[in-house]
Amino acid sequence: METSIVRFETLGSTNTEAANWAMQGAAEGCCIVADEQTAGRGRLDRGWISPKGAGLYLSIVLRPVLEHRSLPLITLMASLAVRDALSALAGIQADIKWPNDVLVGERKICGILAEVIETTIGRAVVVGIGINVGNGSLPPELIDSATTVEAVTGVVPDRERLIELLLLALSDRYDVLQAQNGEAVTLDAWCRASSFANGKSVVVIDGRQRCEGVTCGLERDGALRLKTCEGEIRTIRAGDVIAVRSASDRASGN
Ligand code: BTN
Repeated sequence: METSIVRFETLGSTNTEAANWAMQGAAEGCCIVADEQTAGRGRLDRGWISPKGAGLYLSIVLRPVLEHRSLPLITLMASLAVRDALSALAGIQADIKWPNDVLVGERKICGILAEVIETTIGRAVVVGIGINVGNGSLPPELIDSATTVEAVTGVVPDRERLIELLLLALSDRYDVLQAQNGEAVTLDAWCRASSFANGKSVVVIDGRQRCEGVTCGLERDGALRLKTCEGEIRTIRAGDVIAVRSASDRASGN
């Protein structure tokens, strides 16, 4: 995939701007970057605090040829690309929490918001990526649950280099996803990259629903499989996944 970057100092949301560009026929690979967002959006209708220069706020327009049921794999693909870019940038070994939070240790360093839209020239997916770059990006209430590239490496990274590496990684992972057998390859890569894929004790909260169990891989459409205490396999397609310490972890003092 070829990419081209359009830059803004300030936007409400790069996802909203990219969706507007897509509606007007922007080609796949069109990428919107802003120094700050005044109305950054996160998953599940949450906001994404986006102060100037402290984070990377980027959205890319994709026009995938995947079947509709496979579109969730795009978020898994994007989380792998972020992981690749952080590794290439500074040797950061990141984890991925289903479906697409990129973590270092147990703290979130990047969030991804993929949105499917119908445009006059067909369906598009806008993939928005927010990476916490400098410590100034973290509001006090997130200090315990989030981290930044600066906090992990001790230096504020070159933002342009991070954009370059991210777009290269996105392009590679997206090409793999759309190649023959690419969905299986992507699922397999995600399961190898994520400590949440198998054997993790988690609770999943979706609105008022709460489901506890141990993860046991992904479905072909990227949904998370969860084995409950009753031995039933549940398929999770939405919600927040939170790691919990299992009884054996507690007994071993982990
Ligand atoms: C999440 O973890 O809830 C997803 C956060 C996604 C934030 C990024 S920042 C760039 C793009 N523009 C937005 O408004 N949101 C995404």
